Order: sequence, then C-alpha cells, then structure tokens
Amino acid sequence: MRLADLDPQQFVEWLRHAAPYINAHRGRTFVIAFPGAAAQPPQVEGLVHDLAVLASLGARLVLVPGARPQVEARLARRGLEPVYAAGSTGLRITDAEALECVRDAVGEVRTTLEARLSTAVAPSPMAGLRLRVVSGNVVTARPVGVRDGIDHLYTGEVRRVDIQALEHRLDGGDIPLVAPLGYSPTGETFNLSAEAVACSVAEALQADKLIHLSSHAPLRDADGEPVRELTPRQARDWLDRTEGGLPEPAQRLLRNAYRACLGGVRRTHLLDRGQTGALLLELFTRDGVGTLIAPEPFESLRTAELDDIPGILGLIRPLEEAGALVHRPQELLEAQIDAFTVAERDGAIIATGALIPWTGTDAGEIACLAVDPDYQGAGRAEGLLRHLERDARRFGLQHLFVLTTRAEHWFRERGFQPTGPESLPAARRALYDRTRGSKVLVKPVGS
Ligand SMILES: CC(C)(COP(=O)(O)OP(=O)(O)OC[C@H]1O[C@@H](n2cnc3c(N)ncnc32)[C@H](O)[C@@H]1OP(=O)(O)O)[C@@H](O)C(=O)NCCC(=O)NCCS
Repeated sequence: MRLADLDPQQFVEWLRHAAPYINAHRGRTFVIAFPGAAAQPPQVEGLVHDLAVLASLGARLVLVPGARPQVEARLARRGLEPVYAAGSTGLRITDAEALECVRDAVGEVRTTLEARLSTAVAPSPMAGLRLRVVSGNVVTARPVGVRDGIDHLYTGEVRRVDIQALEHRLDGGDIPLVAPLGYSPTGETFNLSAEAVACSVAEALQADKLIHLSSHAPLRDADGEPVRELTPRQARDWLDRTEGGLPEPAQRLLRNAYRACLGGVRRTHLLDRGQTGALLLELFTRDGVGTLIAPEPFESLRTAELDDIPGILGLIRPLEEAGALVHRPQELLEAQIDAFTVAERDGAIIATGALIPWTGTDAGEIACLAVDPDYQGAGRAEGLLRHLERDARRFGLQHLFVLTTRAEHWFRERGFQPTGPESLPAARRALYDRTRGSKVLVKPVGS
C-alpha cells in the first residue's frame, strides 16, 4: 500500500502509536543476529531496509550475520559434505578446506550487506543518510578443541570481544558488522557460531537488546501458539521441559537468549526471519511479534525524566482533545516533570500520574492520571494512585485534591469526597477554570 492510499486518520493513529517507541529506541544499542539465508536475495532487501529505518531513527546497531548456506554452497562446489560433530556440541567440524569456504562465504555476506546498506536509502527520502558499515577483528577466539573424543579443528568459541573498538565505532555513528570468525593470539582463524558471537557481543556491550532473526522463532507452546514473553526463569523451565522435544536449533537459540539475559542484556527478542518487517513490528508495536526474554518485570513504575516527555504527551494529548484532561503545555510539563510518575512497558509509557504539592500548604494535587486505553481496567491507575499517596505521606502532606470531569466516581470509590472549588487553596482557586466545570474532590492522606 502506498502512503497516499492510507486513511489519514489511520496514519495519525499509527504515528501516535509508534512515536513513544521511536523515542524509546533512540540512542539504544541493538545487536542484531541473522542467518546467512537472510543475507541473500530476496530476503536481504527487506532486512536491509528495516535496518536502515532503525539506524535513521538513532538506534546504535551491531550486525552479526551467519553464513551457513553460503558456506554449504562452497563446500558443494568442491564436492565436500558439511560435517557436524555427533557428540554433545553438535557443532560444524571445520577442517582447513572448510575454513577456506567459511572465510570466502563470510566475505561474500559482508560485501553483500555493505553494498545493500550503501544503496538502501538511495531511492527513498532518506537518501541523504549515510550508513557506514565497518568490520574488523573484534573477536578473539580459541579452539573448541577435542570434545567427546572429536577434534573440532578450526571450529572455535569466543574468548574475548574488543568492546573499546566496538564502542568507538558506535560512538562515531558507524554500524559494526561482526563476522562469525575469530582470531587467536597465535594468528589462527576460527569458525564461530553467529548466535554465540552475537550473544557475547551483546553481553560485552551490555546491549539494550539482542535480536535474533531465525527460522526457529518465535517459540511456540504445545498448542502451536507463539510464546510472547518469558522471564529467564521461565526460559530455564522451558529448556528443561522441552529438552529433547524442542528442535536443536530452537534450543540453541533459547539457551543463548537465556545466557544473554543472565549476562546483563536487558531484552532478547526471537523473531521469525521469514516475516516481512518482523524487526519493525517487534520494535514499534505494543505487543510485538516475537518471543521476548527479559530479566526484569515487564513493567515498572518510576519517576519521570525529561526524556519521557514525548511518551507522556503521546498518552495525554488524545485525552486532552477528548476533554478528559485539561490541556497542559509542554513547558509546564517540563517544569513539573519531577512530580510525574510513569509506568513503562518495554520502553513505552503506558500510564502516568502526577503529585503536585502546593507550596505554603499541607495539600497536594493528583493530576494528569491517565492510562493508555489499551491497558485500562487492569488496576494500573489504582496502583499509580497508591504509589502517589505513599509519596504524599513521605512529603508530610495532609490532603490530596483532584479535579476531574470524567472520573469523579473512580476517585470516590477510592476514598475521595466531593467538595467545591472554594475549598482549594487560594493560589489554586485562582487557576480554577469555571468553564470546564471540573468536580473537585479531596481525600485525607493516610486514610
Ligand atoms: C480513570 C482512569 C485513569 C482509570 O484507569 P484504569 O487503569 O482503567 O483504572 P483501574 O484499572 O485501576 O480501575 C478500573 C475500574 O475503574 C472503573 N472506571 C474506569 N474509569 C472510570 C470512570 N471514569 N469513572 C468511574 N469508574 C471508572 C472501571 O470500570 C473499573 O471498574 P470495574 O473493574 O469495577 O469495572 C482511565 O480511565 C483514564 O485514563 N481516564 C482518562 C483520564 C482521566 O479522566 N483521568 C482522571 C483525571 S486526573
């Protein structure tokens, strides 16, 4: 569909919906791993375009491509069969000839991505944007060695990631491309698993997100339904429960995600590489399309910061337009930002409320209490109110006022009593807008 064909209202809704995520992802570090098949036509076109969108919105990207089909094509041309260890590792055994194929294949993947990323934005309005992909020897490796009696030869594992080099490139606005190859201090090259490299890079950078695009994602439960969220503990249970049942590649993916979470990566997303736009759908829609493994509670209440203002505005502006909340100019919001508490869900603000103490009095105002319509009716406003009441007690306030046009009964059911504008302190009374006809309610703090 062309942009011009979109219903304008739908477009506005979509943009409002995406805006908090755009803001939340700016300046964040995402390590994105994808298999070699995603770096080949026709899939590479869509992938590169999505990466270009993310980069243009200010996300710091590190790319970790695999190269399996490219390696296999080269082996086949030489009449060689891929060899995988029958023992516990299940890894490819890389002999000298296979290593040549790996080097060659990795080179092809790299040049394909570099070329595509250079042209991705050329025919679009983002043409001025320069995407600089850089690669280098940031991974030090060691041999896997002999396991279960099988020598893995040039198959290696990550020993160290040069974080300084990566940080330096990210700070310079580059997109580092980390190939699944590592070099030993003795000058040897080792073939690494792209998933394991991505996990180590994400851990080393303490990335905000590790994203795996895979044909084994999202994870599905016994009924074939996609699993949307897992805590590390649930991921562990899932691994234990399905060990043997889950196909080996999906197990490996989940084990890596689990390891990354324990290693301090805030969120790991497992996305279906075959789904068009999976990256954008996961990152810019509320519930996403993949499996998310996240260590902390999915939602948290915290004091707002200036960076949250676009998210808060996205939430309250529609309520202001509908007359449920009084219009609050952005400058006022900036001045009062410390008084606001926000509920954050995966980087987006889904509820907010403010406690504004009135100077020279022992009273405060509960203001701007709002919950995203998609999340209403689940006790979030109640939880926020309790939080703000606790703050009021900490500040030594005696009374809480609220002015509301639509939620009088909601507050009455939570201990607020109707009163009139005359009971407001003089300074607040002077600001009372009679044309709005807001109801005034009061509650003693501590009750
Ligand atoms: C009022 C508001 C904050 C409630 O958010 P919420 O997260 O849905 O609230 P909770 O889940 O804690 O409470 C839900 C209960 O309140 C009821 N409720 C919701 N809005 C109500 C209202 N305006 N009046 C009376 N009851 C209301 C629901 O029916 C539900 O009760 P039930 O479970 O018995 O059906 C939300 O509707 C909102 O954002 N409204 C617009 C902004 C506004 O008016 N803010 C108040 C002025 S500061």
